[in-house]
Amino acid sequence: MRLVLLGPPGAGKGTQAQWLKERFGIPHLSTGDMLREAVAAGSEIGRQAKAVMERGELVSDAIMVGVIRERLSQPDCARGFILDGFPRTLAQAEALDALLAERGEKLDAVIEFAVEPEVLVARIAGRFACAKCGAGYHERFKRPRVEGVCDVCGSTEFVRRADDNEEAVRRRLQAYLEQTAPLVAFYRARGVLRTVDGMASISEVSNAIARALEDVRS
Ligand code: AP5
Ligand code: MG
Ligand code: ZN
Repeated sequence: MRLVLLGPPGAGKGTQAQWLKERFGIPHLSTGDMLREAVAAGSEIGRQAKAVMERGELVSDAIMVGVIRERLSQPDCARGFILDGFPRTLAQAEALDALLAERGEKLDAVIEFAVEPEVLVARIAGRFACAKCGAGYHERFKRPRVEGVCDVCGSTEFVRRADDNEEAVRRRLQAYLEQTAPLVAFYRARGVLRTVDGMASISEVSNAIARALEDVRS
């Protein structure tokens, strides 16, 4: 199963990827997570991306396509993958098509999360993640089962993202509307687009995605 999750910041891409990767046994490739790891590690890519990400702007297509090319060549991607946050521009979408064509592969589905911009700020403002395993939570919509303890790994340390402030979120939304939203028409024209209502509850969105993928081979 080769999937792309498409939607604005806070739409729920990372949240839904957490169960999709278990369900299909394929890796979750979040370019945002990869860049945050590069920043934390102080690598060359991390140094180039840090300020751009903190402003809420997009990292260059050249860097992103290089990162994805390298990641897709790893053996765990042979049976499929879930792309979260890539592609984000038409140039990235075309580069992905070309990369997959080289491998004799193509996307099975692109899941679009339809959301109203007003909910996104509230979602992002309440978001936090486990410092150890990265599992995502929300102060109102997804609290850990035991207060202050990660459901997945038991860690008691949590972190918030450097770009989750109002100013950067507004820029991220603007970048989505200007540079990423055109991908909806791009993928609709290719017949792979499936749109789900991202305003519903987390479990309802999961059910909608499961239904949308029923007729897609795994
Ligand atoms: P990235 O990390 O991809 O951030 P983003 O696209 O802004 O998306 P988010 O991670 O904020 O949202 P999400 O949809 O994953 O929401 P989540 O599931 O966490 O990118 C960060 C930066 O990296 C970019 O700004 C850019 O600079 C750079 N970058 C990355 N990829 C790039 C690329 N390809 N090209 C160029 N630059 C790139 O949900 C949010 C919260 O809401 C959570 O707390 C969750 O618990 C809660 N929630 C989720 N679903 C629901 C629901 N249905 N109901 C209620 N609450 C919900
Ligand atoms: Mg995310
Ligand atoms: Zn954890």
